[in-house]
Amino acid sequence: ELKDNTIVIVFGASGDLAKKKTYPALFGLFKNGLLPKDVHIVGYARTKMDEAEYHKRTTSYLKNPDNDPEVSAKIEEFKKLSTYISGGYEDAPSFQNLNRHLESIEKNYQRKEYNRVFYLALPPSVFVPVSKHVRENCYAQSGVNRIIIEKPFGSDLDSCRDLLSNVKQSWTEDETFRIDHYLGKEMVKNLLVLRFANVALGNNWDKNSISNVQITFKEPFGTEGRGGYFDEFGIIRDVLQNHLLQVLSILTMERPVSFASEDIRNEKVKVLRAIPPIERKDTVLGQYVGANGKPGYLDDDSVPKDSVCPTFAATVLWIHNERWEGVPFVLKAGKALNEAKVEVRVQFKDVTQGIFKDISRNELVIRIQPSEAVYLKMNTKSPGLNFRAVPTEMDLTYKRRFSDLKVPEAYESLILDAFKGDHSNFVRDDELDVAWKIFTPILHWIDGKDGSRPRPSPYPYGSRGPKELDQFIASYGYRRATEDYSWPTTNT
Ligand code: BG6
Repeated sequence: ELKDNTIVIVFGASGDLAKKKTYPALFGLFKNGLLPKDVHIVGYARTKMDEAEYHKRTTSYLKNPDNDPEVSAKIEEFKKLSTYISGGYEDAPSFQNLNRHLESIEKNYQRKEYNRVFYLALPPSVFVPVSKHVRENCYAQSGVNRIIIEKPFGSDLDSCRDLLSNVKQSWTEDETFRIDHYLGKEMVKNLLVLRFANVALGNNWDKNSISNVQITFKEPFGTEGRGGYFDEFGIIRDVLQNHLLQVLSILTMERPVSFASEDIRNEKVKVLRAIPPIERKDTVLGQYVGANGKPGYLDDDSVPKDSVCPTFAATVLWIHNERWEGVPFVLKAGKALNEAKVEVRVQFKDVTQGIFKDISRNELVIRIQPSEAVYLKMNTKSPGLNFRAVPTEMDLTYKRRFSDLKVPEAYESLILDAFKGDHSNFVRDDELDVAWKIFTPILHWIDGKDGSRPRPSPYPYGSRGPKELDQFIASYGYRRATEDYSWPTTNT
């Protein structure tokens, strides 16, 4: 564990990710006294700016809604331990210059041992040169070095292998922390506890009880401003291949021998290896169009006018093992939809018919965000002098159940894990390899590598997605509740 004498170097310090996620997470940890003692933060980017401008940018997303003087004081303290240096990403002298800056901070340390954590909040085009130059010019000689990188890890199987092997020439697997920030989310972590600490759930967790599973990601806004990046990747690379597949692997893996990182990751890889590549027929693609005064995807200036890039996708994955054979896992994600919501919905099979007709199925819903919750849709006798089953729910809504609830930000939890050297919630190299194997054929088809590119179905901004979606989900066995059941909105 890195307890003291640590410098965190944030590459891409002037960018969006650093401003919105990295610095706020570092501040969150700092505020709660969770950063190593005497920590320093060094921002690095190409942009030339003075320290005042740097501090203005890096603190612009720090939350202090009530202007709490204690938090303001902490922000001032936070600024003091943070400096900025500009330089290129591809030339050795820039990195030598950075190294001198790091040494000038370290010479004030009492102990000789010091650690450096390199956080690459950078576009993928410079991952490789930066990781190489850092290793050659900025590597701490007497302490621990760690490098944190973030998706996109390539754009298909081959490019991912290329990227990984290039980074591996400079960094060991032990030193490398690949972020998928969904693994830092409270509810995603909770999956391990829900599954493996509850006999009542664990014993029903297979093809005998479960009909189908849906993992859904919905965002109510479009690509606004990020169209240039997005158009190169599309929603499958942006969300499904990483975030949703991570959720799926934890949801479906076998019980790990222990919670040690390699035990968990071995099980995740094992289940992913049982999933064949996605088939075209198991896929629906969509692209949002302008509606209700909101612009369509193609109205974004940074998007080519004839783009067929999907902003919505639903795909079905099958797991060929004894536990899951025949159970469809529907992964869906979309931008510019009707609401913000990420959830897992496990739909159980029909109850034995005969004494009941047409009653709702049990459904276990794990709401990842917003407003964390777990609820189980259950049939109960409608109270009174009748004998009728009605769908209701057993409800664990976090903010009601846990007073003083403070769910940490995903990035806070992950950065802390990286300081501790705990890899459990980071993506291992072979995990990425198998994830890309599942998605590469369908992506190549969408990219037009096998001929003409498929046209996504249009859906209006703010809608539930392409119109064929309901029929698509139903064809994999998903059944809507018989009554107009909806989870009470007071819960959200
Ligand atoms: C990112 C994607 O990885 O995850 C974005 O690139 C997406 O397009 C974001 O908006 C969603 O993260 P969160 O934490 O807001 O659910």
